[in-house]
Amino acid sequence: MNILVTGGAGYIGSHTCVALLEAGHTVIVADNLCNSKAETIDKIKQITNKEITFYQIDVTNEKALDTIFSDNLIDGIIHFAGLKAVGESVEKPLEYYYNNLVSTMVLSKACRKYGVKNFVFSSSATVYGDNTVPFVETIKLMPTTNPYGETKAMSERILTDIAKANPDWAVVLLRYFNPVGAHECGLIGEAPNGTPNNLMPYITKVAKGELKKLRIFGNDYPTVDGTGVRDYIHVMDLAEGHVAALNNLTEGVHIYNLGTGQGTSVLQLVKAFEEANAIEVPYEVVERRPGDIAACYADTSKASIELQCVAKRDLLAMCRDAWRFEKESLGRKDEN
Ligand code: NAD
Ligand code: UFG
Repeated sequence: MNILVTGGAGYIGSHTCVALLEAGHTVIVADNLCNSKAETIDKIKQITNKEITFYQIDVTNEKALDTIFSDNLIDGIIHFAGLKAVGESVEKPLEYYYNNLVSTMVLSKACRKYGVKNFVFSSSATVYGDNTVPFVETIKLMPTTNPYGETKAMSERILTDIAKANPDWAVVLLRYFNPVGAHECGLIGEAPNGTPNNLMPYITKVAKGELKKLRIFGNDYPTVDGTGVRDYIHVMDLAEGHVAALNNLTEGVHIYNLGTGQGTSVLQLVKAFEEANAIEVPYEVVERRPGDIAACYADTSKASIELQCVAKRDLLAMCRDAWRFEKESLGRKDEN
């Protein structure tokens, strides 16, 4: 298939481009590079030895999308482009609502205009809120506590309504749990701007000595050791989940969790990282981070049964690959 990948220069998008190209699809990337770099496109080409068509455009721009859709025969779209920092969304709600919702609507309009009926959307486990684990796709969603989460719940709703009104559309809503790690070649990975907010990129900076110690946000949660539990999934497993979704497109709206189904605490992840890489990660326990929940992990049965999609890479591989990318790519001054 000829797939338009919005946000394809970003963390999950770039890994998915690799997986798509390796599965024989053709890829067109649309990204405004607001949180990524053009070099990533070259790295995807280097890894796969395949070509990519790249448009540096804002996907809220209808005219720019017209150019892409009229220049290319697109079979389907995977919509990653969006702003994703939970804390920042509280400071800048308008930017988040505008970017994340308008992009979804303008892309849907372009799909309707050009007869593209396959739409895969990047959603998030955040839509489940503080529910009972494991989260199964059918549970009632809880209101999220930040504008970022709201944009995911609203985009899901918009796409669901569009699919209801257009029964020949295939809409897939993928709810990601916590993607970590990097492509095993070390060329692409997660490169957040400034001090990382997320756990794994923070750990790699501490391991490298760029940050002094990890602050563990609370050890009094009702979990195995009191620290927060999450479902970490290797970004290449997540990427391959998109290929599986494209292989199983059927009309209607289909929602899938993409996780491993395994809960891992912050302390367990720190220990796994230390073991995988034979390096120490100093930490201290501090207050809980506002808005965090105790535990979040997936019921993965639906994706495994309907998409035959099961995460293959374990926690040690996630830690090893995250560290390799930090050392080999982020360490070099000429890149990232
Ligand atoms: P990322 O920031 O690395 O990638 C997003 C990409 O979209 C970036 O390259 C950015 O430049 C681009 N972009 C943003 N707004 C754009 C616009 N208006 N026009 C064109 N390009 C635009 O983020 P990521 O971690 O790869 O996340 C991808 C998607 O997955 C996002 O929608 C995010 O909300 C969702 N998601 C991410 C996580 C996570 O933990 N990383 C979890 C759940 C869901
Ligand atoms: N944590 C720390 N110290 C840190 C960073 C995180 O102890 O410096 C803890 C958190 O308290 C939490 C766990 O590590 O218990 C994971 O935190 P992250 O910030 O890495 O991830 P979250 O689960 O909070 O959120 C992430 C994305 C969201 C997405 C959600 C979906 O940031 O965008 O996963 O599951 F919605």
